[in-house]
Amino acid sequence: MRLSRRGFLAAGAVATLAGCGAEAKPAQAGELLRSKAKLPTPFQVPLPIPPVKKPTRSDAKADYYQVVQRKASLEILPGLKTEVMGYDGLLPGPTFDVRSGRTTVVEQVNELDVSTVVHLHGGHTPAPSDGWPLDLIMPTNGQHAGHHMSGGDMTMGKRTYTYPNRQRAATLWYHDHTMDYTAPQVYRGLFGLHIIRDDEEENLPLPKGDREIPLVIADRAFDADGAFLYPAAKDGPGVESAYMEGVVADVTLVNGAPWPVHEVDAVRYRFRILNASNARRYELAFDKGPATFVQIGSDGGLLDKPVEHRTLVIAPAERFDVVVDFSQYQPGDEVTIVNKLDKNAGVLRFKIARKAVDDTSIPATLSSYAVTPRPSGVVRREWQFRRGDAGGHRGWTINGKAFDPAVMQAQVKLDQYEVWSFVTDVHHPVHVHLAPFQVLTRGGSSKLSAYDHGWKDTVDIRPAEVVEVLVKFTAHKGKYLIHCHNLEHEDMAMMAAFETI
Ligand code: C2O
Ligand code: CU
Repeated sequence: MRLSRRGFLAAGAVATLAGCGAEAKPAQAGELLRSKAKLPTPFQVPLPIPPVKKPTRSDAKADYYQVVQRKASLEILPGLKTEVMGYDGLLPGPTFDVRSGRTTVVEQVNELDVSTVVHLHGGHTPAPSDGWPLDLIMPTNGQHAGHHMSGGDMTMGKRTYTYPNRQRAATLWYHDHTMDYTAPQVYRGLFGLHIIRDDEEENLPLPKGDREIPLVIADRAFDADGAFLYPAAKDGPGVESAYMEGVVADVTLVNGAPWPVHEVDAVRYRFRILNASNARRYELAFDKGPATFVQIGSDGGLLDKPVEHRTLVIAPAERFDVVVDFSQYQPGDEVTIVNKLDKNAGVLRFKIARKAVDDTSIPATLSSYAVTPRPSGVVRREWQFRRGDAGGHRGWTINGKAFDPAVMQAQVKLDQYEVWSFVTDVHHPVHVHLAPFQVLTRGGSSKLSAYDHGWKDTVDIRPAEVVEVLVKFTAHKGKYLIHCHNLEHEDMAMMAAFETI
């Protein structure tokens, strides 16, 4: 029998969750995991930028890459070593920077001692490359062959994923998707960016080069010796279930560095912000005005027109593409992005270094693609995200069912619009594979939240809320997933399979 995190819960060692749930902390699902390590003073470590991955070869059809998933010992906290599981041994992994319409072929080599699966989040990807949670890359290292699971298309040691990138420019990311183990494996480092570019976007006068910066935000906790802390069954009965709301931790990493600092010119910058945290939501704000976040893009690419935000609420897996204008500050000024959902705790600091020439601007019209079609008479489906007891399973469910890879909860025809409604009990960031969607209504009203604009693949749904989205799948037939992107919820079975036909 495989020891799954769900199996552990099903064994009955479940502590009562009363009082530690979302009721007490409506803005933040999850239990805080505190570091034992001595933590650094914030805003000392420079902001790293993940390296851009280079192809090993290219031909008329595609660019070919190889990534090695391996352990590495990194100095994340100054003076301490943390063992990570990283793509190329990095945290975050290397950034793929690719052109729309040009195929990316990635050979993923697993040199870890656990099985892995790679999913390109936001990718319009054929099913065999989408990262079905049982299409395991088995490790060649170690005595036992990783997690014992069957029923998927297993490969030994490596697997080749093909991404057609036949989609508009957008900030995607790739991460582990192993059934029942996604949360601990992403936590230990298996995540990175995949940026798609196209002409429409490149012709805009937006900041580029070293003024276009990814910000991958993820919270982590550290043991006294620097090792990652993550609740595990071996720590005693009930440890994992105590964290079934989700693991939130006390160190905020940006691009893998704790509370970093970055020097900027007094000009506009473009930031591609990804919340790669397992469970933590953020409400990002500047500690002192006048800077705001001018949103230009969402999960699925450019908005039709820019939207200005004083604060940015970002749930796990969401991306916000924003422009910040530092010309409103003086050289020598410091401005800090804080998280209003965590007592204004600092996330990242900017030091304004000097004045500089800025020939960028934010056009009033960004994209012609982002127009909402609102067809009538479409197929409707409801997806309910709730805590549940399904078949002896204590955990999280969709439509009353724990994830079962053998069960297709829906058969969805390609090329037709559907309206999907997502219904929640507590906070759940809901993600759909294969196609982006547009939010139609929230809480029964077509007055959306400020963060619902554009094409999204993950939507932050508040407690006891209903959100309706318009979705259409194209091109690829096969098995795909809808799930909660709170990774502890996902591992505890809040995932459902559907089939495109
Ligand atoms: Cu980012 Cu199915 O996940
Ligand atoms: Cu959830």
